[in-house]
This record gives sequence, C-alpha cells and structure tokens, in this order.
Amino acid sequence: MIQIATMPLSFDRRSPRAQFIGWLALLPLGWAATTMLQLLRVRDRPAPVLVPPDVPLGLSLRGDVVLHRGDDGLVRAFAARCTHLGCRLDRIAGGQIVCPCHGSRFFPDGRVAAGPATRPLSGLRVRPHAASGGWTVDGD
Ligand code: FES
Repeated sequence: MIQIATMPLSFDRRSPRAQFIGWLALLPLGWAATTMLQLLRVRDRPAPVLVPPDVPLGLSLRGDVVLHRGDDGLVRAFAARCTHLGCRLDRIAGGQIVCPCHGSRFFPDGRVAAGPATRPLSGLRVRPHAASGGWTVDGD
C-alpha cells in the first residue's frame, strides 16, 4: 500500500507573514489600476488646438475643446469631456454646453448648470500664438 505523506496545511491569516504576502499580492492590482487611471487622464487631455484670431464671441466647439470668447475678447477653453461619465460634449444650446449622454449642462465658464454631472469642466491653458495672432490651447 502506498501512503502519501501530507503536511498539515495551517495558514494563519493574521500572522504578519501572511498579511505581508496578502499585501504583496495586491501590488499588481494597484499597479494596473494606477496605469489605467494615467491612460484615462492622457486620453482626456485633448491634442493642442490652434484657435484663429477671429473665433466667434460666445461658445464654440473646436475638436475636443470647448471655447468661450467673452465680450472682453478673452478666450477660455475647457476639455469637451463631460465630468459625469466622460462623454464627448458636442452640442451647444441656449448658451450652455450640453452632454448628449445624460443631459448634463454646463455654463460657459465651465460650471455645472444641470446634472447628473457635479464637477465643472476641466479648464485648459490658453496661450497667445504670435504667428497667427490667435491662441494655442493645450491640456498641459
Ligand atoms: Fe454626460 Fe452623463 S456623461 S451627463
């Protein structure tokens, strides 16, 4: 008769060694989550946009950027991503930016006018573009 020697399997989950191994096992998960968040952040950052000097007053959309030119001539820019679940903002109605997915609306200064979004739009940097007389908008 063949006998197989068995070791008693005792694994105390509360031991410091077991806890250390447990935390070690979570490292790849944490790394994956961090990487995904970084990728999403990069994806949400629009490509640089050149805004011509004759951009109209009020709200307009240009690529992945929402532009607002005030009566004072100042240009403000926001990422055209809804802060609710990230849908691309593609419509302007009644002087507000409207999300096509669940109907959030945003004021021209990026604040939430109507939910379900609760956070304002992400502002983008606007710099003068000397060669064209317009502006460059980027997410940096
Ligand atoms: Fe815009 Fe939900 S993603 S309202």
